[in-house]
Amino acid sequence: LLEVLRAAGIEIDAPCGGAGTCGKCKVLITKNVPPPTWADQELLTPEEVLGGVRLACRIRLKHELEVHVFESHEHSLQKAPTFEADGKFNPALRVLTLELEPPSLKDQRSDAERLYAAIEAATEGKWKPRNMTRSLLAKLPRLLRDNEWQVEVVFDYDYVLAVRAPQQDQPICGAAIDIGTTTLAVYTEDMRSGVRMGTAALLNPQRSFGGDVVSRIEVVSKGEASADKLSERVVEGLNKALEESCAACGISPEAIFHVVVVGNPTMTHLFLGLDPTWLAAAPYITVQGDSYCVRAQELGLKVNPEARVFVLPSISAYIGADTVGVILATNMDQGKETALALDIGTNGEMVLVHEGNLWACSTAAGPAFEGANIAQGMRAEAGAISKVRLDDDVYLETIGAQAARGICGSGLLDAVAELVKAGVIEESGRMLSPEEAKAEGLPDNLVERLEETDQGARFRLTPPSAAHQVYLTQRDVREVQLAKSALRAGLEILLQQAQIGYDAVDHVYLAGAFGNYLDQGSAAQIGLIPPELLERVVPVGNAAGAGCELALTESATWGRIARIKRELKYVELSASREFQDLYIEHMMFPEL
Ligand code: FES
Repeated sequence: LLEVLRAAGIEIDAPCGGAGTCGKCKVLITKNVPPPTWADQELLTPEEVLGGVRLACRIRLKHELEVHVFESHEHSLQKAPTFEADGKFNPALRVLTLELEPPSLKDQRSDAERLYAAIEAATEGKWKPRNMTRSLLAKLPRLLRDNEWQVEVVFDYDYVLAVRAPQQDQPICGAAIDIGTTTLAVYTEDMRSGVRMGTAALLNPQRSFGGDVVSRIEVVSKGEASADKLSERVVEGLNKALEESCAACGISPEAIFHVVVVGNPTMTHLFLGLDPTWLAAAPYITVQGDSYCVRAQELGLKVNPEARVFVLPSISAYIGADTVGVILATNMDQGKETALALDIGTNGEMVLVHEGNLWACSTAAGPAFEGANIAQGMRAEAGAISKVRLDDDVYLETIGAQAARGICGSGLLDAVAELVKAGVIEESGRMLSPEEAKAEGLPDNLVERLEETDQGARFRLTPPSAAHQVYLTQRDVREVQLAKSALRAGLEILLQQAQIGYDAVDHVYLAGAFGNYLDQGSAAQIGLIPPELLERVVPVGNAAGAGCELALTESATWGRIARIKRELKYVELSASREFQDLYIEHMMFPEL
């Protein structure tokens, strides 16, 4: 059934990519309800099973079914706040009205040559475009003559993108696009003034092919769907987001002539329809890692048909254009400071700059903080528990102040930190049984929330009166331990490269939605952030998107991008003995 839903373009969450292990691809069957499978019984509540809820990836279609897909709470999605990076406005994309010298027997230059020379003269030799598409070239002679050699021309350093009758105030725009594994963010910019005109964010429609990059790569490598199919899906989502962002500021997507794209390497591969199979297996090779330019039309992106789409470079199979964006936005490559940047999405990417040298590494740390592999984990959207405090009772905050449906990354981090602090979870990560908690003398209000199950203890976060109970399970705590120790070990490996300690670090930039909303105290409590760095933490929201905007609006950024691509040293952790040792060392929660 999941395959049929995917083929029909129906968006449904499938974090494990259809392996039957995440329990998130729920649908409601109202006619010909199939008997529950083993996975349904393991991963759904008895009430859900009785009510006809099934996992779409476990249903083999034999009869006609009536299927209801649960609505996604996309509009309440907790998005990373946009971050405005400091930058000048000096885009490569330009618009000019030109008066060309008409041809004569003494001046028999071609129409195109005449136009290129006029642009070069008007820009004092700074812009020397020498190209245009065949379709524009075919229209050029008429356009020039019908407008009596006075035309408005849109161009960049290499290409002429539009030639038309002079029309004052016609908008000329660009779009910066951040393709996240979970969320797509689009920023529309006025390319005459540099003002951000509109923004839009949507869930990445590829999520029905898996929640993390590895499951999406597997879908392609196993031949369940082609890279082109996944490209189509993300482009569909981007077209929706572009339309929304343009509608909000009253422009047509046709006014967009430049698009700059960032994303992790899997996302940029799948955006371009490139097979990502070799990103996932040693020696982890990208199809291409340089900046790449393609026509919007070729990808089906609904902006101006002549628009050029620039994808920022990837550094390795797991450090991509989004990390380059974070470096640009935080100016890490520019100053003299020693700084760490941490972008926790479905992967955790880390960058260190020290004395002008840049190192980066990546760990598969994030999925837990995005709700994957967590029994009642969910994205940060309406009804997700986002904050937890333990005092005389358990205090919860949910997104949108709605009844709790599950728990998102920031809530998960809080819940674990608070339970460690209260002694319900031991340093080793083991959750006490109700009897042990009682014997330890823990308060009754905590003891009565503990339950013993086949898979260890679990702690009820919601009050007994709640319509839907949300638990933190022993397995969830283990997932948090794995994620936080991987991130922490990665940070320490970077510091080892520069041969410095935490005291040398001036700033820790936390990028992304999770980085922005996590409680820094809780992160230090569980050892995700070293406590000595707490005061130097700076949340920077969607810095990857902000870096992408810089590349769109400030042409000098491309020199920085080339230097980052050339000089950033990628530290491969998969074969590192030190990483393994540190990973095990940081599995424990810090002593109180
Ligand atoms: S259980 Fe069906 S997609 Fe994960």
